[in-house]
Amino acid sequence: MRVGRPHSIKIAPSILSADFSKLGDEVRRAEEAGADIIHLDIMDGHFVPNLTFGPIIVKAIRSHTKLPFHVHLMVEKPEDYIERVVEAGGDLVIVHAEACTHLQRILSMIRNLGARSGVALNPATPLTTIEYVLDDLDLILIMSVNPGFGGQDFIPSVLPKIRRARRRVMKRGLKIEIAVDGGVNVETAPKIVEAGADVLVAGTAVFGKPDLKKAVQELREAASKPLKHASHSKT
Ligand code: DX5
Ligand code: ZN
Repeated sequence: MRVGRPHSIKIAPSILSADFSKLGDEVRRAEEAGADIIHLDIMDGHFVPNLTFGPIIVKAIRSHTKLPFHVHLMVEKPEDYIERVVEAGGDLVIVHAEACTHLQRILSMIRNLGARSGVALNPATPLTTIEYVLDDLDLILIMSVNPGFGGQDFIPSVLPKIRRARRRVMKRGLKIEIAVDGGVNVETAPKIVEAGADVLVAGTAVFGKPDLKKAVQELREAASKPLKHASHSKT
């Protein structure tokens, strides 16, 4: 089955690389720059070795943009936070498969609260982990770095996982989106999209640039570039 380039690619800037002293302005800037989604990284200092923010911040910036909020929970016991992030304005809540003993229950909980559900997989976690919860899922977030920090290098060995996820979703005829998070930039985007991703999460490659509009445009252009024109076409 052909994997290839799906329809339209969504760009999801991660506010982890934004200016935290003015997050309201930053999400507004991202919307004006043509972004499709705002990606919010919640870290608890346990599941990942870093701390960021919680539902209070999600709520504080909610009114500054109309873009959907994808809340990426890098926390132990994500079930303790789901209700609060949905109340705060999270449209899609992503939990880590590695942090959920009762993954299906947690995904149902997210949908029952009226939000869309997502599962993130660390680079070492196989796709088979989510085989039996595909019907409960709206998005698969394939981590292409070990989560916790922005600005890390893309791990190319996740490309076959993206391909496999795309094939699986197509074969089952499901409407699950495939997102990729970590080290996404104009160099890596063509390979990621070619492998079958349809949402590109990018922190450094958007908020790390002075001109957000240009950054989003360049990422979108790179995502639609034929792979043979990309600088690394081997993987
Ligand atoms: C990493 C986070 C990412 C991060 C990506 O743990 O989940 O969303 O912001 O940052 P970049 O795009 O700089 O790799
Ligand atoms: Zn993230």
